Amino acid sequence: MDNPAFRKTLSEIEQFSATSKNLLALQQFVVDLIAERLPYYNWVGFYMLDSNDANTLVLGPFHGTSTNHVRIPVSEGICGAAVAQGETVIVDDVSADPRYLSCSIETKSEIVVPIRVRDEIVGEIDIDSHDLRAFGPDDRTFLEECAVIIGAFMEK
Ligand code: SME
Repeated sequence: MDNPAFRKTLSEIEQFSATSKNLLALQQFVVDLIAERLPYYNWVGFYMLDSNDANTLVLGPFHGTSTNHVRIPVSEGICGAAVAQGETVIVDDVSADPRYLSCSIETKSEIVVPIRVRDEIVGEIDIDSHDLRAFGPDDRTFLEECAVIIGAFMEK
């Protein structure tokens, strides 16, 4: 990861997770910090699998404009695809992807990164950008490391 902002941000998230009292506080810290540090991350949020319905994602803490997509079936959206495929999904141009569920007309690209606890997906980090092709290999590595920190916190 060439961008020093990624390393610094990861280290701050590690530090916060070591003392955070609960998951919601850690998630809110993460979305606010990431959105502040990375200006092309225009919407940053968590979707977590419903503990009563493993086929539905539920909106968690987020930073950005409010969204109508509060519950997303895993069969729908880029968010659902990341769970169904069990891997990070990057969409360079959301207008060209029929799976895309619109959250803001300004969104041009999106990345969704699964969070795992003991190898099971429990949720994901979702980022939208107003730029086309905003997310590359460094963003993916950075966000997958964020997801590992959140998963480790949940496992405690
Ligand atoms: N675009 C997502 C929906 C969530 S909003 O981006 C906040 C999707 O296609 O699943």
